[in-house]
Amino acid sequence: MRTDRFVSETELIKQRAIASDLALEIRPRGLRFFVETFGCQMNVRDSETVKGWLAEIGYTEAENKESADFILFNTCCVRDHAEKRLMGNIGALKDRKDADPGVIIGICGCMMQQEGMAKKLLKRFPHVSMIFGTNVLYRFPEMLRDVLNGERIAVTDRADDAIAEGLPKLRDNQRSAFVNIMYGCDNYCSYCIVPYVRGHERSRKPEDIRSEMVALAENGITEITLLGQNVNSYGNDGSTGMHFAQLLRYVSDVPGLKRIRFMSSHPKDLNEDVMQAIASLPNVCHHVHLPVQSGNDEILRRMNRKYTREHYCSIISRLRELVPDIEFTTDIIVGFPGETDEAFRDTMSLVEEIGYAAAFTFAYSPRQGTVAARMEDQVPESVKKERLKALNELQTRKTVENNEKYIGHTGEVLVEGFDERGEETMLYGKYQNFKMVYFPGCRELLNRYVTVKVTQSNKNSLLGEMIDA
Ligand code: 5AD
Ligand code: SF4
Repeated sequence: MRTDRFVSETELIKQRAIASDLALEIRPRGLRFFVETFGCQMNVRDSETVKGWLAEIGYTEAENKESADFILFNTCCVRDHAEKRLMGNIGALKDRKDADPGVIIGICGCMMQQEGMAKKLLKRFPHVSMIFGTNVLYRFPEMLRDVLNGERIAVTDRADDAIAEGLPKLRDNQRSAFVNIMYGCDNYCSYCIVPYVRGHERSRKPEDIRSEMVALAENGITEITLLGQNVNSYGNDGSTGMHFAQLLRYVSDVPGLKRIRFMSSHPKDLNEDVMQAIASLPNVCHHVHLPVQSGNDEILRRMNRKYTREHYCSIISRLRELVPDIEFTTDIIVGFPGETDEAFRDTMSLVEEIGYAAAFTFAYSPRQGTVAARMEDQVPESVKKERLKALNELQTRKTVENNEKYIGHTGEVLVEGFDERGEETMLYGKYQNFKMVYFPGCRELLNRYVTVKVTQSNKNSLLGEMIDA
């Protein structure tokens, strides 16, 4: 085992000391921060850590960029035009910095881990003074101290990938939380930039994961989503003494925890043991987000996904056998290089066959440095667009079909929010298997569990009534 698998305690004590020194100066000044997060749950989680540090350093959260003294963009580079949008956002802050030189503008996240990106941005935007990647969050106090001393910094060391435990976190949500179980990814799907920017796979220790969950539950959190790029390969490097199914069993009895979710799963690693854990552990939710990406074997092979359509479908049917009320969601890419009309039809037929509760669909977009970006038979944008439209139409129809099954269904819902509709307050929340339902109620029920019966299925949503609060 590598000795530098974890950031040392001494290092963390040093960072905390810098934070409390900074707080002596920052707190009396009443300074405020604003963090804008793009991308996936992983980034949402990372932002919670940065916000945690900022709070420890004495900043409070601002409502918007305009009133903030520290502005940070947490970026994503997994798909599309994120770079253009970021440039727009940053460019728009130049006047602000001119008017108020004390304001600090920073950029972090996976886009900053891309080769040459940090340097390019520092050069192009003199009003940006702080750039850092995803692996160095533990050093935030030190980095910020340097910036407050007038330096401009870019810290994006990919090799610096030790796991840091015990970092502060500022979580907004009173009911649900994300907990990382691993970082990075070793799968190298040919379209995907994640392994290049987030580095190789590292799993946290089961004890650290469990104690974070215990602390969250003690603070009233009842729903936890375990996060990883491929949670099913948790512990596969032998460093944790537990595989994912064992981890699920190990954390499933955290007192007060009602719902455990996890994402994302990779079909090549979702084994019988995990399926048995989902079926047998009462608070593991009956929902699996299982990205399929394509329904065509040749495309799956070129994507380096390491499973066939047949294998994927066998997981779905086995899980349905073990857990009859299970729901699946997925990610699908259309227009991957070499995707013929026929290959695309295979994706359509798979979506028809499986009946996902929801699908997140994307037009393939080449990511610099990945294998697929160098493939010759790229698909024209217009074709990708057409296929995406056809696929989305199909999934909408499947969602309606799926919803109809729920009329008359009764179950427990965790209330996530409400919409005021004239006189009436409509609450919404999810059944444990991820299906969302809307129903009249009062806002005091926010974050509580209530029993709801589905009475109607509208196009995109279920409507119901409360049976008991
Ligand atoms: N182009 C389009 N979609 C992509 N995804 C990842 N990389 C790309 C890309 N280059 C999608 C995959 C993945 C989800 C998180 O993003 O479907 O599962
Ligand atoms: Fe990207 Fe594949 Fe890793 Fe998911 S499993 S993060 S798609 S390389």
